Amino acid sequence: MAKLNKTILITGGAGFIGTNFIHYILEKYPRYRIINLDKLTYAGNLANLADISNNSRYQFIKGDIADETTVQRIFKTKKPQIVVNFAAESHVDRSILDPQAFMRSNIFGVYILLEAVKKYGIGRFIQISTDEVYGSVAKGKPNEQARLLPSSPYSSAKASADLLCQSYYKTFHLPILITRSSNNFGPWQYPEKLIPLFITNLLENKPIPLYGTGKNIRDWIYVIDNCRGIDLVWHKGKIGEIYNLGGYNEKNNLEITNVILDKLNKNKSWIKRVADRPGHDLRYALNNQKIRRLGWKPIYSFAKGMRLTIDWYQQHQDWWTKIKSGVYRQYYKKQYKK
Ligand code: NAD
Ligand code: TYD
Repeated sequence: MAKLNKTILITGGAGFIGTNFIHYILEKYPRYRIINLDKLTYAGNLANLADISNNSRYQFIKGDIADETTVQRIFKTKKPQIVVNFAAESHVDRSILDPQAFMRSNIFGVYILLEAVKKYGIGRFIQISTDEVYGSVAKGKPNEQARLLPSSPYSSAKASADLLCQSYYKTFHLPILITRSSNNFGPWQYPEKLIPLFITNLLENKPIPLYGTGKNIRDWIYVIDNCRGIDLVWHKGKIGEIYNLGGYNEKNNLEITNVILDKLNKNKSWIKRVADRPGHDLRYALNNQKIRRLGWKPIYSFAKGMRLTIDWYQQHQDWWTKIKSGVYRQYYKKQYKK
């Protein structure tokens, strides 16, 4: 085996985007070693990484980014050169019902990571942020300088983390980079988010709950395009900078619903109109000119990404039925006691 030359600490690697990113990096860089620090909340799932659990270039550590002792021990003993922080509570509806965990993981957890970076020093710290920090966008596409106007406890906690990261760059000269991407879709997304919830409900012959008018617009990016963008920012981005990873696939929720219904040969009677989400942002959008100048553009069309995603959920019923029935959660509770 080639001599390993970099240790990367990936946090939140047992979630949707982190899982895709770990697979992508292990495949692309045969000399990199990955440590995955994940708390295994309801959204973290080691079944996603079962195929690499015995890979000598991969190690899993169960732990919380908001736990100073754990984080400092990892920095001290593993000496990562790069940190990519995916760890966060990520679901807007949960943040409306119970925001506390969002404040702890998405803000305080980032502070704990930044303090460890300050103490031990590393090459690059990449904070994974979101287009939701710009809030609902009436017209145009916000660039990286646009005002932050988050609407939900989730997005305001993410915006807070962005500001913290920027302050640690300015004051302590930490090597911070921030990526803000559009709504991701693809394999391994937890079936509480729009696309996997609707696909899996239909596969189970259950109705699909469409909020409000169905006219809310999201800009969608296939998860591998986001991974490619994060990789480029990590290797070629300028320290201290923010990069929007915009998919340029703006669709309203009804359009998304119709694509899924069509592909699964279901009619509109499966749509169940439900009460709107409080503070529901009408539209997200991103200007991606800056990352394009660095050499990135999405390579998955929306149609191709949706085909791959729907196929994946059809072929991995075991994975999502276990999640929906709580089997994995019970298993990890027993297996990974505190
Ligand atoms: P996810 O909810 O699927 O996964 C989050 C992961 O983080 C889980 O494995 C969970 O166990 C872990 N985690 C949560 N709190 C933790 C803590 N305190 N310590 C350690 N691990 C913890 O989320 P995702 O969709 O993969 O999103 C990953 C990141 O990307 C998040 O920071 C999110 O804000 C950002 N993001 C997501 C999207 C999207 O569309 N999914 C879009 C833009 C940005
Ligand atoms: P979601 O996947 O929760 O992502 P976000 O709110 O972070 O963009 O929701 C995407 C869109 O789909 C959003 O406008 C809310 C809507 N939605 C529904 O209509 N029904 C649902 O059951 C969910 C989860 C979302």
